[in-house]
Amino acid sequence: MRMLHGVVWFGFAALAGAQTFSGAVYPILRAKCQGCHQAGEIGPMAFTTYRDTRPWAKAIREAVLSRSMPPWHAEAGTGERFQNERTLTEGEIHTIAAWVDAGAPEGPATEYPPPLKSETGWRLGKPDLVVRVPSYRVAAKGEIPYTFLILPTRFTQDHWIRAAEFRIDKRAVVHHMNAFVRPPGSSYLEGLPRDQFVVPTLAQRRIGRPQEGVFERRELLIGYEPGYRPIPWREGQAKLIRAGSDIVLEMHFTANGHEQTDDSELGLYFAREAPRERVLSTQTQDMGIRIPPGAPAFSSTAEITFGKPVTLISLQPHMHLRGKAMRITAQFPDGHDETLLNVPHYSFNWQTTYFLKDPKRLPAGTTIRSVAVFDNSPNNPFNPDPAKTVTWGDQSWDEMHIGFMEIAFDARQDAEAIIDPAAKTRERRRFEETVRTSAR
Ligand code: HEC
Repeated sequence: MRMLHGVVWFGFAALAGAQTFSGAVYPILRAKCQGCHQAGEIGPMAFTTYRDTRPWAKAIREAVLSRSMPPWHAEAGTGERFQNERTLTEGEIHTIAAWVDAGAPEGPATEYPPPLKSETGWRLGKPDLVVRVPSYRVAAKGEIPYTFLILPTRFTQDHWIRAAEFRIDKRAVVHHMNAFVRPPGSSYLEGLPRDQFVVPTLAQRRIGRPQEGVFERRELLIGYEPGYRPIPWREGQAKLIRAGSDIVLEMHFTANGHEQTDDSELGLYFAREAPRERVLSTQTQDMGIRIPPGAPAFSSTAEITFGKPVTLISLQPHMHLRGKAMRITAQFPDGHDETLLNVPHYSFNWQTTYFLKDPKRLPAGTTIRSVAVFDNSPNNPFNPDPAKTVTWGDQSWDEMHIGFMEIAFDARQDAEAIIDPAAKTRERRRFEETVRTSAR
């Protein structure tokens, strides 16, 4: 017994001795935490020096043991592996916990390598083109409707974009920002003035032309949301901005008690040559949701079928405050099903995009299906009003069910042929039905 105690005690002491801030912990914080926990980023405190980190040692231990930090909501071991996965390894968790248990010592203070940050403030380096959003004054209080800005690119030839990055100025009040490409001739926000902030009505936002292709109307270039990290598409992949296109920014600001002026920017990086594969953003969505009051697990299903072979690049579940869980699966033409992503405990605060480690080939005829579960019961601590029937809408007290995804396909292929026409017709019918019901 004595012997055993001795071994355990010595073993633990030796281990604890090695767990110092400078020796073992700082490298983990630098790699896994400082992306958010440094000045100017979204983490509420910086873990860039021993002094700043030490008071948080106990909270850090809690956060890593409970796996609430780093934030990551995909169920481990189910579905695909993800390139931007930011979870800690068992070893890293152990190292941090042992350091805190040993009294959080600094160890031999050496020169600490500075946080990873780019000189220009752009994570992907200096963009080829910077689109500046004119200063927007966000009031201290009140509901701010989705605000739009139509900016002409003045491109006289087609441009392939290999990456794009949002540099958000006032993260505390920018709930999200989406940049769409509006090709010439599109019906999207038709007739609204360019170069100024506009707040179109829902009807104006839904204007479409019969027979107009989905991507002839608009195409999502990139989106910013909490937890955002820009990731370029792969070698040989790019998005297309046709000559004469406009960039339409959809902005959702939220008041946080302090009046602020936001000066965000969008950076574009041009591909030097035409890519092998064109990248497109598309989605599954159920605009017809109608969640009864008090329902603890209301489920909604949406799907999209590809008419051509595509490669799946990324997935992003999107719901609002009643969002509880989402599972995204692929059903292959031979009928078999595979889970791609399971988010069993969805958090509205973290609109994570999951980039597949190995982009997945999907043969023509594959259906991607998203099943969203909503909790409209009083047991949901984020529920703004369990007594309400909840339908589709912009604000966080309304709901959405969207499974955003990015796909790549042969760049010579017509984008409109990528989505199976039968699936498109079903989607259009559903959309029209929703517009009719919401107009009543
Ligand atoms: C993607 C951004 C991001 C990353 C990466 C991240 N954090 Fe956080 N962290 C936040 C944000 C935002 C908050 C405040 C809101 C919240 O608690 O969700 C926070 C809060 C915390 C808190 C305080 C929460 C509490 O328990 O009171 C701790 C401690 C923490 N993070 C530790 C860490 C550690 C340790 C790592 C790395 C192993 C890490 N975080 C990685 C964004 C991040």
